[in-house]
Amino acid sequence: MTAGDRTIPFDVSRPSPARMYDYFLGGKDNFPADREAGAKVKAALGDVMSHDIVWENRRFLQRAVRYLAGKGIDQFLDLGTGLPTQGNVHEIAQAVNPEARVVYVDNDPIVLAHGRALLATNKTTTVITADMREPGTVLAHPDVNALIDFSRPVAILFVAVFHFIRNTERPQEILRTFREQLAPGSHLALSHLTTDGPPAEEIAQVIDVYKGATSPIVFRPRQEIETFFDGFHLTDPGLVRPWSWRSDLGEPGPRTDWLYAGVAEFGDSGPHATPQS
Ligand SMILES: C[S@@+](CC[C@H](N)C(=O)[O-])C[C@H]1O[C@@H](n2cnc3c(N)ncnc32)[C@H](O)[C@@H]1O
Repeated sequence: MTAGDRTIPFDVSRPSPARMYDYFLGGKDNFPADREAGAKVKAALGDVMSHDIVWENRRFLQRAVRYLAGKGIDQFLDLGTGLPTQGNVHEIAQAVNPEARVVYVDNDPIVLAHGRALLATNKTTTVITADMREPGTVLAHPDVNALIDFSRPVAILFVAVFHFIRNTERPQEILRTFREQLAPGSHLALSHLTTDGPPAEEIAQVIDVYKGATSPIVFRPRQEIETFFDGFHLTDPGLVRPWSWRSDLGEPGPRTDWLYAGVAEFGDSGPHATPQS
């Protein structure tokens, strides 16, 4: 299959997190293997994953971007973008500030294929295929540097993506590398599946389905998710269930206890900040 001007091999025989997420959100950019895996999750959990969690998460992302754009942030680096759906980051940010620049990064090439079509006429938004486990490559990418000026505040978005990074892949180090690039006033938005809330047997069923996918899934306790914000200062209301984060900024979405989410600022001396290495 081709994507834009490049030929990219898609492995449609294995479910991918991007296409499964698309399936759960009700999109059409998924294949039989994704639908089969998604159906297994649905059989185990009912609508919890195949509707509630994904929409709770997506609504958080939209409100977080609206909040950040409203604070004057006009550069967004969205890691683990997912397939385009309604209310994409650039649409929300550019509704607040038409000049806002957005770079989408995903390691699934299908995101590039669909993103390119969506963004054909948008000069301030781009999409690249890259892996956040190689932060140096992402940060040095010419398309990233063409749009993002790291000497000014940037919002880095890691929404529903760190649960695809295993501990052996050193998630904290990945975050540190991105943080070290940031100017004061930059922000981090992050959401993550948690072990603190859902029944253990339901978590085990989800983990099991993702074992056959292109990336396994990792649930983490709240305490560990909080360490992802090291070096940042969590803004109000802190690290909370996504539905309860700033519902004054838009639709809160369904309420579950499967995720935590927060938005944090870099470069002030708030209580959660640790010295920069
Ligand atoms: C659950 S979706 C989240 C999409 C979007 N951030 C949202 O919250 O609506 C996770 C996305 O992260 C991507 N992803 C997973 N591991 C990644 C990695 N190592 N580097 C870049 N993207 C990754 C997947 O391909 C998928 O598109």
